[in-house]
Amino acid sequence: TKGGAAAMTVVVVGAGQAGVQTAASLRDNGYPGRVVLVGDEPGEPYQRPPLSKGYLEGTADAARLTLRGSSFFAKNDIDFLNTRVRRIDRDRKRVLTADGDELAYAHLVLATGSRNRALPVPGAALDGVFGLRTREDADVLRDRLGAAQHVVVIGGGFIGLEFAATAAKLGRSVTVVETVGRVLARVASPAVSAHYTDLHETHGNRILTGRTVTRLLGESSVTGVEVAGNGPDLVLPADLVVVGIGVIPNTELAADAGLAVDNGILVDECLSTSDSNVSAIGDCAAHSSPFASGPVRLESVQNAVDQARCVAAKLTGETAPYRSVPWFWSDQFHTKLQIAGLANGYDRTVVSGEPGAFSVFCFQGERLRAVESVNRPADHMAARRLFAAGTGLHPDDIDDGFELKRHLASAG
Ligand code: APR
Repeated sequence: TKGGAAAMTVVVVGAGQAGVQTAASLRDNGYPGRVVLVGDEPGEPYQRPPLSKGYLEGTADAARLTLRGSSFFAKNDIDFLNTRVRRIDRDRKRVLTADGDELAYAHLVLATGSRNRALPVPGAALDGVFGLRTREDADVLRDRLGAAQHVVVIGGGFIGLEFAATAAKLGRSVTVVETVGRVLARVASPAVSAHYTDLHETHGNRILTGRTVTRLLGESSVTGVEVAGNGPDLVLPADLVVVGIGVIPNTELAADAGLAVDNGILVDECLSTSDSNVSAIGDCAAHSSPFASGPVRLESVQNAVDQARCVAAKLTGETAPYRSVPWFWSDQFHTKLQIAGLANGYDRTVVSGEPGAFSVFCFQGERLRAVESVNRPADHMAARRLFAAGTGLHPDDIDDGFELKRHLASAG
């Protein structure tokens, strides 16, 4: 019966990494009730990381992108609905879809993700100006890159730099325009930023920092990017512009339903929103973390997957606070950056290794906050274990020839 089914139904809104993992983990944990996964992007759920790398380059095809396909959903008795949730009725514990269906839930999981921040300057709507977040974005960019003569990337974060690296591999030299004084400033230390600026310049890309884009020029298609700051104003010729200036969490659905929102849907340490029948996970959720002083919103595959597992466990009787070690990665030009922990609030860094393969240890006082590893995967794995175990590392422990793995072994 409908009422009986609803008493056990979990509805998951959003079929990105977090939403798909929630549905899968519920079944892994033996959840007996109905599981409904609602996603509004066309096609089968897919993973985003390859979109700025192998998929854009053409070395990873669409099949490799798929996260879970229809056979997985059928086999695991997961109802995947390709539509959009328009409204949440918390009093009646129902969601309303764009198809006009009402879905009753016992528990609702919001995994609504984030969207690209729009470039707030005239000309941003010209043809030839694109973001890079969805499979459709990547398809368009792959197509346009073939004929592009002058590529400009706005934003020197992971997305902007990964796109620039792929474009360079495909024979296009790219100019990256970054507002603040260094690339990757939001996510990494100055030593890492400097390494990535060098890396791009070595491969023929141009990196402009401390520069603001004031206008995009063109009639119907973009022809130039007007740039101010840090030197004379200039116009960069452009027939392809990629905007990667960060994301905005998709919190409107939650806010409209009266849930607490503040740069993300606010959740407690077990990822429940201000309504205990509703959880929020992934890019859209602001959670407290042992790795940060206030609520944080993390944009990473790790966070999406681990929060999904945490909520699935809660719904199958294993409630535990979310305490996973945050980690991130970026691949550019055969260079792998891996970050463990959160690099905010640090006041001191110690570098260990060689110019092409090193780790940066970020300390706040004597407390290790993050380890950034460039082509040092063993350090990264050791750092994740160190944070998970709560083992300390003192800045003075890092001497010549220091290896985190050895330190960890000797610390027992
Ligand atoms: N002009 C130029 N640069 C800008 C502007 C602007 N108007 N506004 C912001 N920036 C810069 C920021 O200073 C920052 O360095 O754009 C960069 C954006 O970087 P992120 O916030 O890290 O976001 P982005 O690179 O867009 O990635 C979005 O996708 O892969 C994931 O981890 C990534 O979660 C992140 C998301």
